[in-house]
Amino acid sequence: MVPVMKPSALPYVPFSRPVLGPEEEEAVLAVMRSGWLTTGEETARFEAEFAKVVGARHALALNSATAGLHLALEALGVDTGSVVLTTPFTFAATAEVVRYLGADPVFVDIDRETLCIDPRALAVTLERLQAEGRRAAAVIPVHIAGMVCDMDGLAQVLSDFPVPLVEDAAHAFPVRYGGRYAGTLGDVGVYSFYATKTITTGEGGMLVTDREEVAQRVRVMRLHGIDRDVWNRYTRPGSQGWKYDIVAPGYKYNLTDLASAIGRVQLRRAGEFLQRRTAVAERYLEGLRGLEFLSLPRRTVDHAWHLFILRLREEQLRITRDQFIEELHQRGIGASVHFISLHLMTYYRERYGLSPGDFPVALECSRSCISLPLSAGLGDGEVERVIAAVTEIGARHRR
Ligand SMILES: Cc1ncc(COP(=O)(O)O)c(C=O)c1O
Repeated sequence: MVPVMKPSALPYVPFSRPVLGPEEEEAVLAVMRSGWLTTGEETARFEAEFAKVVGARHALALNSATAGLHLALEALGVDTGSVVLTTPFTFAATAEVVRYLGADPVFVDIDRETLCIDPRALAVTLERLQAEGRRAAAVIPVHIAGMVCDMDGLAQVLSDFPVPLVEDAAHAFPVRYGGRYAGTLGDVGVYSFYATKTITTGEGGMLVTDREEVAQRVRVMRLHGIDRDVWNRYTRPGSQGWKYDIVAPGYKYNLTDLASAIGRVQLRRAGEFLQRRTAVAERYLEGLRGLEFLSLPRRTVDHAWHLFILRLREEQLRITRDQFIEELHQRGIGASVHFISLHLMTYYRERYGLSPGDFPVALECSRSCISLPLSAGLGDGEVERVIAAVTEIGARHRR
């Protein structure tokens, strides 16, 4: 039995705390006062600025990364019966969008070090599909926690099996790989501006691509399948803005100008946020070094540090991962889990007849991972409290 501790009297250290200040407030107020709230000029500016920063030909603002992944696959022609390869060690969004289109996700195990899709396992899966006479319509690597996947390894595998790459870069702004931004390394990249992400608009996302026809399709499908931009149809009398055609049953995935106003400021502050996130992660790596009951994330030069995922060595402890998180909670620390592998989830398990052992690395990580609080808004004192709590819980429950 784990002794029940009294909840901490200290203020809770939140898992994530967004950093929004007077600049964001001013920007939102300006939009509110402008009389134009939804997608308009502010969003167009956000897109142009984002495209310039990451070096993409097109950036299209959306109301979530989920929408972006959906539209990316749709634009690449994924439909009923298609197969899309991705990792099970990810959030629900990555695989559900495949199902939105009636296609089937085929999971590929992850690399133990990076927690990203394992290129060798990808090669094995592509060979198996080929032997079965099936072709993958897309591959979605996920840059988990902000660590960029082994893109060289993936490129090598895909040189034998040309398949479009859709980068799930929800965690990966801003991080570079070989001098280029993650999210611009494949055919399409998708970023998230959800509340806990490295820059935020509350909810929001951005799709980037250099492929003209993909951008065209996404532009149409994000707003009802309307054949051209008509966002200003109410404000330009006489311009026949009201007149449009519908070329496909599209979606309602546009980003508001209110959100884009926040996004433009956050984009300018992205370097400052990254610096703080990196400092927090470095301090964790330093402060938790040498604790034998932990595996720490790999230190890399480039990392967006959206999440700090450590793994417990449960064989060294008398408590489970879940109990460890509970103990953190009792000490006022908001830890979380990223992720419980999708192949363990009822829907995917039942629909595709998957067993836990089908993806052994993803299974092991699902059982042992803990995400410590990490955000640009975390104070030094809070970081030290997290380190002290992890150290103390480990010492108290060592085998
Ligand atoms: C790996 C991954 N992909 C996609 C998403 C979806 O992002 P959004 O909430 O912006 O739709 C998330 C959200 O957390 C995520 O973690």
